[in-house]
Amino acid sequence: MHASDSEPIDSNITSGENKSFWIASTDPIVFEKLQQDIDTDVLIVGGGIAGLTTAYCLLKAGRKIILVEDGYIGSGETGRTTAHLTNALDDRYFELENIFGQEKARLAANSHTAAIQWIANTIQHENIDCNFKRVPGYLFLSGSDKKETLEKEHAATKNAGLLTKMLEQVPGLASEENKWCIEFPDQGQFHIMKYLKGLTDAIIRMGGEIYTETKAADITKEGAKANGYEIKANHIIVATNTPVNDRVTMHTKQWPYRTYVIAAKIPKGKLPYSLWWDTGTQDSKWICAPYHYVRLEEYDNNFDLLISGGEDHKVGQADGENIREEDRYIKLIEWTKKRFPAMGDVAYKWSGQVMEPIDSMAFIGKNPGNENIYIITGDSGNGMTHGTLGGIILTDLITGNKNPWEDLYSPSRITIKTTGDYLHEAGNMVAQLADWFTAGDVKEAQDLKPGQGGIISSGLKKMAVYRDEQNNLHACTAVCPHLGGILQWNAEEKSFDCPLHGSRFTTAGKVINGPASTDLKRIEIKQDAVMSN
Ligand SMILES: Cc1cc2nc3c(=O)[nH]c(=O)nc-3n(C[C@H](O)[C@H](O)[C@H](O)COP(=O)(O)OP(=O)(O)OC[C@H]3O[C@@H](n4cnc5c(N)ncnc54)[C@H](O)[C@@H]3O)c2cc1C
Ligand code: FES
Repeated sequence: MHASDSEPIDSNITSGENKSFWIASTDPIVFEKLQQDIDTDVLIVGGGIAGLTTAYCLLKAGRKIILVEDGYIGSGETGRTTAHLTNALDDRYFELENIFGQEKARLAANSHTAAIQWIANTIQHENIDCNFKRVPGYLFLSGSDKKETLEKEHAATKNAGLLTKMLEQVPGLASEENKWCIEFPDQGQFHIMKYLKGLTDAIIRMGGEIYTETKAADITKEGAKANGYEIKANHIIVATNTPVNDRVTMHTKQWPYRTYVIAAKIPKGKLPYSLWWDTGTQDSKWICAPYHYVRLEEYDNNFDLLISGGEDHKVGQADGENIREEDRYIKLIEWTKKRFPAMGDVAYKWSGQVMEPIDSMAFIGKNPGNENIYIITGDSGNGMTHGTLGGIILTDLITGNKNPWEDLYSPSRITIKTTGDYLHEAGNMVAQLADWFTAGDVKEAQDLKPGQGGIISSGLKKMAVYRDEQNNLHACTAVCPHLGGILQWNAEEKSFDCPLHGSRFTTAGKVINGPASTDLKRIEIKQDAVMSN
């Protein structure tokens, strides 16, 4: 369904009002809707990098697949990525050593290196024109961090078998404050939507079936329902970024964060094609300290785009630091200008969502308690390689091949240690339930200007209200249908976001990010008067 006039988000295209450069610079990748019952060997739910890579790998292994996607291909977080392809894991190797030991940290490094190589090989084999480049990556100190962090990380990357080097200056960076860095050789970058187009072409050529605008519901070990039809399958893969088949288990093992991106024009040749990351804000209130991530992308004959990201916060909790969504872009522009002064006008801005796992390792494998339902989630900021690993590992699991990384990423693993303070993170979730008893952020609907939304409270009743550009009011319950979190208005992406596990909804109440799988209940509201229904 296309967005109505009152809906700022066209959720078939992408999961926010702001469009990423990747989405804006390519045609939508659209297939037919499912219009019949169907039997298959493997059902894949989700048309992002994880679902499509899995489809590709299974077809290569001779299996029959169908893939269903709620919107169009890439309409989830994949279309909102920045597409660094890296083995410089954002949770740090010294953390992985601490949690899992040196041998497993080495396995993790090896898996991401292999994923980058797998992408490079596939691009070559399928002749995909997606601006793929091998580039170096530089991890440099943030202003709030100490050189020991880099020294520790350098030693841990060496232990993990990576060919990293400490440098005394950061290539391409102007700021004096961040002199030291670790160089990671042989990283990669590409245009993600062009890459997805290449994968879908190959999937169709190999006999795979893809259906878009086809939402899977009632996922069981027998299959799922979609658009009113029955899909029967021997294996079901839930590649929906955050699992939509499970209400609780996995959602206590990962936390949703919102992250911001700007893309500014920069004259070609001013900077070398590279990836840059800082070590993150050490005094952040969030367990997953936000960090900045920067790269270039080809734009036109005269300019590249400098794509810079960061300023993360837990979903629905931007106000927790008193920094509104719109102000995060301003901070990001200031940070980027200081370090890359040649940057010009900002041409694009967007934000997206990442799932941070409790122990820094993604979850890829059988869904706990199921024999034939599989998940790929907990990507952190490394979802390009995690999504790719998802396809490789799940194909081995389904075809009965032993995979070297299967145990490392198993969703059923029990880890004694966690990243940061688990109790603090769990406590943060519980604290969000206090929103049931506080006033909404808007007193009454009259206070909303066209294009604005907010939460209006009437006793224990909470409404998510939006005034569209034509001045009409729209109201839904503000209670998340997943587990009852109170939604928050996201002024930048024009959505209602749940601070508990990251579900998001359009202004008309349509679900755009799980784990919620149903839309918000609509509430009849008198125009310019709040009416109790
Ligand atoms: C701003 C930003 C920057 C990032 N930068 C990087 C980076 O530089 N490098 C990196 O490695 N990673 C990065 N990441 C992370 C990475 O982009 C994601 O982890 C990855 O794209 C997730 O892919 P996915 O296929 O698992 O999920 P998605 O791309 O979200 O795909 C899931 C799909 O499932 C569909 N879906 C959901 N429910 C249903 C249903 N019931 N039925 C049918 N379909 C359904 C959705 O519509 C969606 O298209 C970044 C993320 C963001 C937001
Ligand atoms: S996402 Fe779990 S309660 Fe909203």
